[in-house]
Amino acid sequence: MVDLAKEKIVVTSALPYANGEIHLGHVVSTYLPADIFTRFCRLKAREVYHVCGTDDYGVPILIGAEKEKKSPKEFVKVWHDRGLKDFKDLGISFDIFDQTSNQENHKLVLDFFNKLKEKGLIFEQEIEQWFCEFDKRFLPDRYVIGACPFCGSKNQYSDGCEVCGRVIPHGEIKDPKCSICGRRPVKKKSNHFFFKLSHFSKDLKTWLEKNKNLQNDVKNYVLNWTKEGLKDWDISRDINWGVSIPGKNQSFYGWFENHLGYISFLLKLLRSKNKNGKEFWNSSKIYHFIGKDIVYHHYLFLPAERMGEGSFKLPDFIPTRGHLLFNGQKLSKSRGYYIGLKEFLEKFPADYLRYYLTSITPYSQQDVNFDWKEFQERINNELVANIGNFVHRTLTLIWHKFKGKVPRPKDFSPEDKNFEKEIKKIPEDVGELYEKLEFEKALKKINEFCSVCNSYFQKKEPWKTESENTLYLSVIAVKTLALLLCPIIPISSEKTWSLLNLNGKIEKENWNNVSLLSIKTGHKINKPEILFKKIENISLVEKKK
Ligand code: 2FM
Ligand code: ZN
Repeated sequence: MVDLAKEKIVVTSALPYANGEIHLGHVVSTYLPADIFTRFCRLKAREVYHVCGTDDYGVPILIGAEKEKKSPKEFVKVWHDRGLKDFKDLGISFDIFDQTSNQENHKLVLDFFNKLKEKGLIFEQEIEQWFCEFDKRFLPDRYVIGACPFCGSKNQYSDGCEVCGRVIPHGEIKDPKCSICGRRPVKKKSNHFFFKLSHFSKDLKTWLEKNKNLQNDVKNYVLNWTKEGLKDWDISRDINWGVSIPGKNQSFYGWFENHLGYISFLLKLLRSKNKNGKEFWNSSKIYHFIGKDIVYHHYLFLPAERMGEGSFKLPDFIPTRGHLLFNGQKLSKSRGYYIGLKEFLEKFPADYLRYYLTSITPYSQQDVNFDWKEFQERINNELVANIGNFVHRTLTLIWHKFKGKVPRPKDFSPEDKNFEKEIKKIPEDVGELYEKLEFEKALKKINEFCSVCNSYFQKKEPWKTESENTLYLSVIAVKTLALLLCPIIPISSEKTWSLLNLNGKIEKENWNNVSLLSIKTGHKINKPEILFKKIENISLVEKKK
């Protein structure tokens, strides 16, 4: 039966290019926050879908395929499958992980293009393009490297500056070089389609100002870009790997079509469930999780295209987080400086990474610094010594003192009553922070609660006499903790659930019942096992350069 009262949510994570492995920089800004929020929404019994897939087209892919002497199609399949596996190992629970090169996406891109063209929002113009006379080919985007015309930073790709975040208009890169042979390219004429982005300057400004869910710091600098007036946007590329432009020997620019994957993937997913995807999209709250390097594209290109096409709702939230720094330097796949997710997960449990990254990542554009020593300390002092310790001492004492059966409580003392109150109050406080996307604050609150649990336990000394009330309340606190932590460390929460010998899967529980949590007296728990082990040796993961 359909639950009409269910809130509908679409969560999207920026589509990773299918040209290499997922690294910790991706995880911190986008996939982990999106997964935490999705898992929280599921616990709140909302109808939520986490949509993602690989960004298969464009120059970054072609360059990669050429290097490996593979066809682009073969090449993207390899990275799509690898990405999906790595995400799965990290516990990222997408509802769909598709590819922008699929037929559904092609169809939607052409629908958008035709509609925009009919409305006069697309025009054709002859322009000059970089061309390498040595390689005998046009050189769009990343095929040309040079200095940013805005901030002067060297070694930037010709379509955007990684230092100042600006999209670089065609032909304006300084000191250009062909990225294949290193020679200076020449300019050659070619006919291109343009999207009238300038037409949307005012509407975008109004939308940005009105939308109270967008982060103010991001919004302010995007508003500054709109004040300067937006330039019409070249959406054609002289390459043949992409969504083909009808009647031309060209493809659409990746950024014209990749974000349409958010929509086409959801439509495909809901079609498989016999649901009307478009209706769902338009009646949902939409969250696009991104890293700050793609703000321009998500706050301007994406909404302008949707405004122009007119039948798909604009985003409600565009949660934007900063870069991951390692030794103060941005991790970047395209620059070959990163820590691969697979490599990390070969050395440490997924929940350790999820725990640490959550604890250091604010809901802002501030960059996040990965520090091995801090990683070790957080895991050892918080996850092991605070959380793991409380769970373990509670379960082992029940196991040894009561043969694994939850004891029957007697009259509560004032201390017991206070502790019971804390257990009942915590879900609301933590839930509010999850709702506000402040996951690092939620984790801090949970840790504080766990410290309260440990103090209560320590003070009551249940290993001596009179242990029934303490152990009864403590095992309920363990159950509460497992649920509170479930969005952040789902694998360990599920394990705690099974140590508690509770029915079903923890992820199917309902958050609204957390404060009512109880465990029947006489309930038999399973034999306790250690959940988290200390990290002894930290110099395990190599960085690449
Ligand atoms: O910057 C990138 O990695 C792009 N592949 C992100 C694309 S997100 C989109 F599809 F909107
Ligand atoms: Zn720049």
